[in-house]
Amino acid sequence: LASVEVDLSSIGEGEGIVITWRGKPVFIRNRTQVEIDEARAVDVSALPDRQSDAERVVEGREKWLVVLGVCTHLGCVPLGTKSGDDQGEYGGWFCPCHGSHYDTSGRIRKGPAPKNLEVPTYSFISDTTIRIG
Ligand code: FES
Repeated sequence: LASVEVDLSSIGEGEGIVITWRGKPVFIRNRTQVEIDEARAVDVSALPDRQSDAERVVEGREKWLVVLGVCTHLGCVPLGTKSGDDQGEYGGWFCPCHGSHYDTSGRIRKGPAPKNLEVPTYSFISDTTIRIG
């Protein structure tokens, strides 16, 4: 499928899901205010892959983070979506293959991965539904 619609209504605050789009995992997280604040408090100029949180989410829908679940090092699927997962040192995702830590915006903060988790093209088609692709 070129595009996929995802119903977000069952994802509670602080929770996430993994869906498959074009054969790749996509992480969708309903971020808490603390997670958003952490992502926004970061000095962007100090990041390996300089991107503000605002550039990675839809304005007015900041609680929703949508990223490809593919580590930008060698393509493993990072942990951090399921309850109880290791979310790494920055509270986002942790790639156990070689130890890359991603923050609550999906940005690389520590480890060998060179780039942030990629944000796919998506849009909101209602308050609780997105279309990816
Ligand atoms: Fe993720 Fe190497 S593939 S750290």
